[in-house]
Amino acid sequence: MRFVLPFLLLCTTASAQVNLIPLPANLDLQPGRFDLTKPVTIVVNSKEIMPEGELLRKILADALPVEPGLQLEQGPVFPEQFVYLAVPSDAELPKEGYKLRIATTSITLSAADRAGLYHGISTLEQLLPGKEAQASLPCLNITDHPRFPWRGMHLDVCRHFFDVDFVKRYIDLLARYKMNTFHWHLTEDQGWRIEIKKYPKLTEVGAWRSGSQVGPYSRREYDSVPYGGFYTQEQIKEVVAYAAARHITVVPEIEMPGHAMAALASYPQLGCTGGPYEVQKGWGVFDDVFCAGNDSVFTVLEDVLTEVMALFPGQYIHIGGDECPKERWKTCAKCQARMKSNGLKDEHELQSYFIQRIEKFVNSKGRKIIGWDEILEGGLAPNAAVMSWRGTEGGVAAAKEKHNVVMTPGSHCYFDHYQGDPANEPLAIGGYTTVQKVYSYEPIPAELKPEEAKYILGAQGNVWTEYILRPENVEYMAVPRMLALAEVLWTPKAKRDEKGFIVRLENELPKLDAMKVNASKSLYQVSIRPKQGPKPGEIAVEMKLATGGSFSMTEMAPPYDERMAGLAVYSAPVIINSDRELHGWIQREGLTGPIAKRRFLFNKATARPITLSVQPNERYNDGGAFTLVDGITAQEKRVSTEWLGWREGVTITVDLGSVQDVRTVSIGALNETYSWIHTPERVDLSVSEDGKTFTPFGSAEVKAGVGRNAFTLEKAGKARFVRFTVKHRGKIPEGYPGAGNPAWMFLDEIEVR
Ligand code: ACM
Ligand code: ZN
Repeated sequence: MRFVLPFLLLCTTASAQVNLIPLPANLDLQPGRFDLTKPVTIVVNSKEIMPEGELLRKILADALPVEPGLQLEQGPVFPEQFVYLAVPSDAELPKEGYKLRIATTSITLSAADRAGLYHGISTLEQLLPGKEAQASLPCLNITDHPRFPWRGMHLDVCRHFFDVDFVKRYIDLLARYKMNTFHWHLTEDQGWRIEIKKYPKLTEVGAWRSGSQVGPYSRREYDSVPYGGFYTQEQIKEVVAYAAARHITVVPEIEMPGHAMAALASYPQLGCTGGPYEVQKGWGVFDDVFCAGNDSVFTVLEDVLTEVMALFPGQYIHIGGDECPKERWKTCAKCQARMKSNGLKDEHELQSYFIQRIEKFVNSKGRKIIGWDEILEGGLAPNAAVMSWRGTEGGVAAAKEKHNVVMTPGSHCYFDHYQGDPANEPLAIGGYTTVQKVYSYEPIPAELKPEEAKYILGAQGNVWTEYILRPENVEYMAVPRMLALAEVLWTPKAKRDEKGFIVRLENELPKLDAMKVNASKSLYQVSIRPKQGPKPGEIAVEMKLATGGSFSMTEMAPPYDERMAGLAVYSAPVIINSDRELHGWIQREGLTGPIAKRRFLFNKATARPITLSVQPNERYNDGGAFTLVDGITAQEKRVSTEWLGWREGVTITVDLGSVQDVRTVSIGALNETYSWIHTPERVDLSVSEDGKTFTPFGSAEVKAGVGRNAFTLEKAGKARFVRFTVKHRGKIPEGYPGAGNPAWMFLDEIEVR
């Protein structure tokens, strides 16, 4: 062990000193430094790579006091201090690979191809100190290449639209971290965003909606502010060229057969019923989809794809394929006739027919399709690649069938999820995916054999924008999680090191600040979790910082005036037994973390002993029974730590500690039927003074609405023990999503007053 320690220290120092994200495959620090205060000349070995020379000259000119020179190699004599760029020079290097050698008076960068040269330049760019810092580079040798060929980021420009300037800025961010694929989600129910010359209504009508959904999904509230936008073909070409100059392939997504309301609103004859249809204001999944029985639908889509393929030169065209309800097809004469004439046994096979027909067309033009994992249902198109988003199963199945796969499981790759405690984050769709969780992601599913694993092309971070309205919000959700994914996809698995990554990220964040990138600092968010305190009626509030280290806290009593609160360094759980609000945040040299806040409200049941007849389902049982009496009323932002979930009834008993007057008793339940969450069928109350004999007390009333519902009984009585007998609804009734499956029942805070 004594030998290991100094070595580890050295590694940490080396990576901390060079601060590269993603960490190179091989990095070897050398003594000495290259002086950046003296004049530097860039020498390129061929005319072909003059653009890369020009790019580096611009990067160095922005960072250095002296404008660098640029010249074509003229023979064996080099300038006094130089950066030498050479390509293609190294047949041994894998695709996109490069070698960078920084010595005291020379820097040489050789690469397998121009993409490798570009990555080497971006490594050099990341190594550059800020203008104020010591103007030199550490001497080193780097030999580097990516682990995966598909290192992607997605952007949904349909739910909210982002202009060309921002799309370019987003591409710059991808390039900085050696991502090489930009998946541009261009068509949706809420907007069609790409000009198609042959079908002008797709953007004249389809790019505009009459309002947008606002607030949490469960509220179903909409504004009536007209909203929209689209890219002209000229703008698309500009973006594609901009990305190509950064060795990024743009993969366009044209959704079919579902998520097509904007297209149907433009050309109603493309739907099964003929409409009329509207560009949707709200989020979700809609029953109206492209008709699969109508040949003219395929003609239109082929025309659209012909224009799309002319704009996007990459090999893959994304055709969507996700979340396509089959309702309309079941009652459409044309769709049913198609099924009959083609011997298709169900609507899944009809979807498969749809995708295969489109694939045949795309293949005939020399391109390939990629689609979301639903394209596996009913039979996978022969040459299709699969984007596995509903977990990893789709990716595993496709790889076993020898199809290429891009992994984007919601659990690790959906950057529209919360990245810190939802209570302290801007409204998001749900989920909880920290930067550390992204960093822990392994794209190759464990169940694949090595010969199957080679079909995993890589992975991708998805940025869906229902709750992401502005460019700075996109940056907040994408950064720094994209940096973690970039390292997962580039760096050899054996070199992955979360602690080292966090240190390097910490050094990168000020640079992102200087670039005016609105990176999230949720990594430094203090988490605040209540636990049962030492005595009944007491909560122990635990505060933690995932990155470790000390942080400040304040504790406030009503009226929660921050100015009157004392500031302390957190050292141990804070024990409280009456209404309090706690704040925690980190403040260090150059870093102020976001302030995390939690307000705890006490009633007669708070932090009292509680028993359950049946434990919650393991998926929704983060904090155990205590969650129901932890002083926090669960909010609409559905947080797994605040709601407990059952798929059956439960009896809950709380011990108030002594016989008390009782006037109001209630328990919260969530009504979110689109997520299969239904309120209980009924809640009956009984009370007891000894915990053995319970007498019926009454039935709780509820004003049913969406979101949180309180089942409340207002009745005067005396009790030490209060019992809730909560009856589950059983199966989800017809007419609701998931009909026929057992309903979820989500319960939260109990109140006794
Ligand atoms: C998806 O998130 N519907 C692919
Ligand atoms: Zn139809």
